[in-house]
Amino acid sequence: MRLSVIGCGYVGLVSGACFADFGHDVACVDKDAAKIGALRRGEIPIYEPGLEDLVATNARQGRLTFGEDIAAAVGGAAAVFIAVGTPSRRGDGHADLSYVYAAAREIAGALDGFTVIVTKSTVPVGTGDEVERIIREARPDADFVVVSNPEFLREGAAIADFKRPDRIVIGTTDPRAREVMSEIYRPLNLNQPPLFFVDRRTSELVKYAANAFLATKITFINEIADLCEKVGANVQDVARGMGLDNRIGGKFLHAGPGYGGSCFPKDTLALVKTGQDADSPLRLVETVAAVNEQRKRAMAKKVIAACGGSVRGKTIAILGLAFKPNTDDMRDAPSLAIVTALEDGGAKVRAFDPASMDHARALMPGVAFCEDPYQCAEGASALVIVTEWDPFRALDLDRLAKAMDSRVIVDLRNIYRPEEVRRRGIKYVGIGLPT
Ligand SMILES: NC(=O)c1ccc[n+]([C@@H]2O[C@H](COP(=O)([O-])OP(=O)(O)OC[C@H]3O[C@@H](n4cnc5c(N)ncnc54)[C@H](O)[C@@H]3O)[C@@H](O)[C@H]2O)c1
Repeated sequence: MRLSVIGCGYVGLVSGACFADFGHDVACVDKDAAKIGALRRGEIPIYEPGLEDLVATNARQGRLTFGEDIAAAVGGAAAVFIAVGTPSRRGDGHADLSYVYAAAREIAGALDGFTVIVTKSTVPVGTGDEVERIIREARPDADFVVVSNPEFLREGAAIADFKRPDRIVIGTTDPRAREVMSEIYRPLNLNQPPLFFVDRRTSELVKYAANAFLATKITFINEIADLCEKVGANVQDVARGMGLDNRIGGKFLHAGPGYGGSCFPKDTLALVKTGQDADSPLRLVETVAAVNEQRKRAMAKKVIAACGGSVRGKTIAILGLAFKPNTDDMRDAPSLAIVTALEDGGAKVRAFDPASMDHARALMPGVAFCEDPYQCAEGASALVIVTEWDPFRALDLDRLAKAMDSRVIVDLRNIYRPEEVRRRGIKYVGIGLPT
């Protein structure tokens, strides 16, 4: 099938490459000329394990092309996937749909023959109706259906998630669109992923409800972690004890510095706004968003306390800047708020991250970036683990201790066993652990 994907970010690029790998002919479009230039040269603008090979193989075999011209990509396509960004609108927290609507207008001009237009971007309930209205207004003659097909992939595991999804949610009641969507995902039949057909509004809401629920789970265990610290309990064991209950499940019950990234913060806010606009406030989600926001700066206070109450003039080493391992994505990363709060407290911050330092440089002008964890630790009064990258899980603790000014490790991801660190004469502070 001929498909086109508008937007070559984390979602568009992964979707496009995976669809091509299924055997479809995929034209990917982005308005960012530099990004398209890089992709044509085989350079991948984001860090995502396995993506470079997947793009190279499918581009070489002619199934995956990149361009800037929506019209050229859309004409003759059976389906057009809109995968542009939907960030928080400045000021009010609503999802900014200007990129989606701009793409819809451009697609409208190029429609030719029956076309399914799919919103893969995360969009608030009713956006599909508006996309349909925009296209209908521009092209009263066009034969098209607008479908919602939210994406659930996780950065860092995006290809596996796309190819082996827990479910594929498809929002349409149109039989022709249903047939096209089933055909697009047919190569996944071997793994029998449930194609879950619902109406378009329901599909749009599934995505937000799922993200808000996961954000709630994280925030719940984070607050339990705080309580553990006060009452001398161990949050990791509490989480395990809870998670062994099948009704709860152990995933997303890892206490940490608060959720970040390109989805949870903006999607919880957007859902809160939808609830308020619909006179159906989501108080739980409102609280989750507020608690999480405060938590990031509170993590800096934890570091300051571990350093004896002040970091003024002290050097603090930060390991991990990306919002999670295996990505270079810095959007709403907890490290941003933590570093700012430490700098506000007078600290000099050094940092190392295996993938995100190029992005981080522009966002953290006061930070000294290092080549590895050991260089980062040199002269530091505390070493703070913010992102649980694999290379940070088995550091040479003796070497670190030697490099540091004061032997303090603040492990915001609980990746070390406290006694293993303390045995080396290093003060260890984790999250929700007895001291
Ligand atoms: N990143 C994730 O892990 C993830 C997971 C699931 C869903 N989503 C959702 O998917 C959507 C895309 O997210 P992302 O992280 O891939 O975004 P992104 O910011 O990485 O990429 C968006 C791309 O769209 C391009 N673009 C914008 N307007 C365009 C237009 N009119 N024509 C052509 N290109 C255009 C931009 O240049 C950019 O390259 C968002 O709604 C997001 O919430 C993201």
